[in-house]
Amino acid sequence: MGSSDLGTGVRRVPSLWCIGACWMAVAGTARSAEEPLSSVVEPLVRHATSSPDGSAAATFVPGDFGRPTNELPIGVFDSGIGGLTVLEAILSLDAFDNRTLRPGADGRPDFENERFVYFGDQANMPYGNYPREGNEAYLKELILKDAVFLLGRRCWPTADAASPVLDKPPVKAIVIGCNTATAYGLAEIRAAIRAWGIPVFVVGVVEAGARGVLESARDLVARDEAIAVLATVGTCNSMAYPKAIGSAFGRAGRRAPKVVQHGFADLAAVIEGDPAVAATTSVERVLAVGLRGMMDDYRRSGGSRPVGSVVLGCTHFPLVREEILAELGRLRRHEADGIRPFEPLIAEQVDVIDPAGLTARELFRTLALERLRAPASPGGAAPEKKENLFFMSVPCLQAGDDGAWARAKFGRSPGRLDVEDTRVVPMTVGLLPEPSLNLIRTRLPQVWSSLGR
Ligand code: DGL
Repeated sequence: MGSSDLGTGVRRVPSLWCIGACWMAVAGTARSAEEPLSSVVEPLVRHATSSPDGSAAATFVPGDFGRPTNELPIGVFDSGIGGLTVLEAILSLDAFDNRTLRPGADGRPDFENERFVYFGDQANMPYGNYPREGNEAYLKELILKDAVFLLGRRCWPTADAASPVLDKPPVKAIVIGCNTATAYGLAEIRAAIRAWGIPVFVVGVVEAGARGVLESARDLVARDEAIAVLATVGTCNSMAYPKAIGSAFGRAGRRAPKVVQHGFADLAAVIEGDPAVAATTSVERVLAVGLRGMMDDYRRSGGSRPVGSVVLGCTHFPLVREEILAELGRLRRHEADGIRPFEPLIAEQVDVIDPAGLTARELFRTLALERLRAPASPGGAAPEKKENLFFMSVPCLQAGDDGAWARAKFGRSPGRLDVEDTRVVPMTVGLLPEPSLNLIRTRLPQVWSSLGR
C-alpha cells in the first residue's frame, strides 16, 4: 500500500466488484479523516513514536508496519466491556463468501482466519460522562492512547508486576467499538495515523450505524418516520449520529430523516450491574424515565412524525434491546385523560438498528478492499483456531482507593504523558466483576469461549 493512501482507508479495487459498491460509503469515511490534528492530541502523536523499542508508556514502533501486515491481528477497543458486543458481532459474522468475497453466507465465519486483540479501558470509563464533566480534552487523549496501545507491543503481565513486557502483537486495523470514542476520537486517530504514515485503517461504529440507517431501515423518508438515537450523553452532545446520518443520506442524494436523540448517563453502568448505580435503580426504571423524557421533548418541540427506528448508539444497549422495545410499546399505549399522547409519535412496529453487525460488515469490506485479509489455510482447509487476546486497564492506586479514583479520573488534564496512572493487563475472568461476567457468559458466547480463564 502506498503511503499516499494511508489514513484515508480508501482505494478502489475494480476487480473486487462486490465490495466496490461500498466505495462511495468508504469514501465518505475519508472525508471526515481530513481534519487536522488538534492541539490536545498533537503532543501524544509526537510522543507515540519516541521510544525505539516501544518500551515507554503510550508508544509503538513504526518499523513494525514496514513489512506486510496481513498476518497481524485486528484491534478492537472500547471504554470497557461494552465493545465486546461489537467483537461478538465480528466473530459471528457470516455475511460474505470467504472465497469470492461476494455478499451471501457460506457457512463459514467471515473472519475465520483472523486473530483479534481486544482492549477495554475499564479503569477510565464511562467515556460518555467526560464531556458532561467538561473534560472533552482528556477524553480525546484517552481515545488516542487506546489506539496507540493497540498499535504497540507494551502491556503489563499483571497489575502489580515490577515491569511491563513487550510481547503484545501490533494490529493491522483498528475497530473503535465504542460510540463515544468514535464520536470524539475517530477523526483524531485517522489524522494521527496519517501523520505516522503507517498502513492501518480505522472503522468506527457511528459511521457504520449511520450507513445502516440508510441501507437497512425501512424507507423512513417515504413513510415519513423519524429515527431515535439512544446513546450516552457524550455521544448525543457531539451530534455525531445526526451528522453522520445526514451525510450518509446526503451522499445517496436522499433527504435525511428527522433524528431524535436521548443521552443516558447511567444506563451502561446499570446494564453492567455497577453496584454504585444498580443499588438505586434498574434498567426498566432508567429506560422508562429516559424514553418518556425523549418523547415528551419531541412532542413539546412540535414533532409529529412517528419514531419508526431506533439506533442502539451505545455498545451496551444491544444487551437490553427487548426492554427498549417493550418500553416504547408501553409508552405508545400510555393513556392520560382518555388520550394516548404518544400513539401518533411511536410507530406500531419499531425497527432496531444495531451498529455492531454493520461495523462487522464494514470491517470485512475494508479489509478486502485494502487487501489486508489474513492468508487462508492451504487448500481451503478449516483454519487452526487462533487465540484472541483480551486486555483491560486497571487503576494504579492502592487497594481501597476506588472511591478516590472514581472522583479523580474526570478531572485529569491532557499532556502529562510521563504519568501512567492506569496499567493495561490481560483481561481474565478473575479480573471482571460478576455482573459483567454474567453478561458475557450468557449473551456473548463467541467472546466467552475465547476469553482467558
Ligand atoms: N462504550 C460506550 C459507548 O458506546 C458506553 C460506555 C461509556 O460511557 O464508557 O458510548
